[in-house]
Amino acid sequence: MIIAVDGTLASGKGTVARGLARTFGLAHLDTGALYRAVAVELLKAGADPGDTEAAADAAKTLDPQRIDQAAIRTAEAGAAASVVAAQPAVRAALFDLQRRFAEQPGGAVLDGRDIGTVVCPDADVKFYIDAEPRVRAERRWRELVASGDTVQLEDIARQLAERDQRDSSRETAPLMRAEDAVLLDTTHLSIDATLAEAVRIIQNKTGAAPRI
Ligand code: DC
Repeated sequence: MIIAVDGTLASGKGTVARGLARTFGLAHLDTGALYRAVAVELLKAGADPGDTEAAADAAKTLDPQRIDQAAIRTAEAGAAASVVAAQPAVRAALFDLQRRFAEQPGGAVLDGRDIGTVVCPDADVKFYIDAEPRVRAERRWRELVASGDTVQLEDIARQLAERDQRDSSRETAPLMRAEDAVLLDTTHLSIDATLAEAVRIIQNKTGAAPRI
């Protein structure tokens, strides 16, 4: 069983994807972490995230087992990831890795921006998670402050608008809802309630039974 979870920044898609993987006993891949890790490699090397050759090289040599989870979560890494993710050569280099992950025996949950549209158009169930921009900005700001970043809410709101715009307007694999994806709006819905709804939809659609 392959479950695709796409959506906007800080919509709750990562938490929903992790919860679904746990509930149905599936492997989980946060594909945004791959783009962030490529960006961090470039930043560490002092390269420009817009340098297409350096970005493609970093994507081709990325070892997903050795991603520094703390380094990829900063606001700087997120902004650079969005620049890196707009480059077709980077997307092509990361495609096979994501596809292999999806095809592992037992199935998988992948979350990102183009899982239901490009990486796994054949997914058994697809979700598109979204929420109003202000609510998403506040969520991301709280996360960053909790992890020790000193950032202003207004700056996060502005960056979020820029990244929404860049992720949705790029030519290769832009962020968009797959025609057959179920929309879950988390503006007024808790993550627990969203997860419960997603579990119910998967059960109805596939007959799969939760493991927990
Ligand atoms: O979900 P995130 O914030 O960790 O993603 C980081 C960036 O990577 C974001 O700007 C969008 C991009 N991304 C993408 O283009 N395709 C994916 N499948 C996942 C993330």
